[in-house]
Amino acid sequence: MAFFTHHVCRGLSSSAVRNVVIKHVTIIGSGQMGAGIAQVAASTGHSVTLVDTNDDVLKKAIKGIEGNLKRVVKKKFSDKPEAGEAFILKALQNVSTSTDAASVVQGSDLVLEAIVENIKIKQDLFGGLDKLAPAHTIFASNTSSLSITDIASSTNRLDRFAGLHFFNPVPVMKLVEVIGTSATSQETLDSLLNFSKILGKTPVSCKDTPGFIVNRLLLPYLIEAVRMYERGHGTKEDIDIAMKLGCGYPMGPLELSDYVGLDTMKFIMDHWSVAHPEDASFAQSELLNKLVAEGKLGKKTGEGFYKYN
Ligand code: NAI
Repeated sequence: MAFFTHHVCRGLSSSAVRNVVIKHVTIIGSGQMGAGIAQVAASTGHSVTLVDTNDDVLKKAIKGIEGNLKRVVKKKFSDKPEAGEAFILKALQNVSTSTDAASVVQGSDLVLEAIVENIKIKQDLFGGLDKLAPAHTIFASNTSSLSITDIASSTNRLDRFAGLHFFNPVPVMKLVEVIGTSATSQETLDSLLNFSKILGKTPVSCKDTPGFIVNRLLLPYLIEAVRMYERGHGTKEDIDIAMKLGCGYPMGPLELSDYVGLDTMKFIMDHWSVAHPEDASFAQSELLNKLVAEGKLGKKTGEGFYKYN
């Protein structure tokens, strides 16, 4: 059976996946991003299976989704509480959970992963599921910093593999980056662009280059602000005020770094600086390294560039 599936997948021409309308979605990883994507997909009428490593994490994710839906309903259905209740019930009915991705991918049009940012773990996951998922199923990764081409290389469905990069918090942020590798078919990209629109998002198409569009511009900007502060070009407050009032940004770069998480920034920059040593915009910052080593990771630990209560 595995042999048969393998060859069917490899031999499938991209025309066979023309017009894949994504109805059933398997989302693997029920953390910040996976739960957010599940909420939005379920609210827009998709049937969603949310997968994680254990039931406690999944229960927490469903509770989080329910809480978020209640907040949405309070705003959107303030004058129609009954319609609001029905909306929540329907969305929650659209979500089921599982701790075994292998047993649920059979019925999926899209398998989207939002698990830990580790290339080997993502490759192992998709490599295994490739043998089990139907031929038409599109695989996608929500990675922020890894190469889609590298993740896809563990599968035999290169034409049906893409990046689908959401932003945090998913229910609020309107953008989705749809990332095609050199092997991704136009049909796959079209299906994902359509799916993103049905979710109520605005998709943009990107090439599979480090950071795609948003993070390729954002991370070097944030790290340059850290370097400016390190070199004494200005106080942290002045740097933040300058960008808020001079550019109309809602947050200054050092505030935003604390919000993103200094460990996350360092993780991404370290990875890029190794992969692209020739690119000076990915160079290390001693101050960032020091803060991370001291456990000052930003808002989540109560201190980064600023202190939080
Ligand atoms: P998270 O740590 O909140 O959630 C990850 C979840 O995946 C956890 O619940 C964990 O138990 C589960 N998991 C780990 N390995 C698994 C496996 N093999 N099978 C099933 N479940 C597994 O992480 P977060 O922040 O949601 O990030 C997930 C992905 O989304 C990462 O690739 C990250 O780069 C990307 N991303 C994160 C953004 C953010 O702002 N946090 C923004 C955009 C993308």
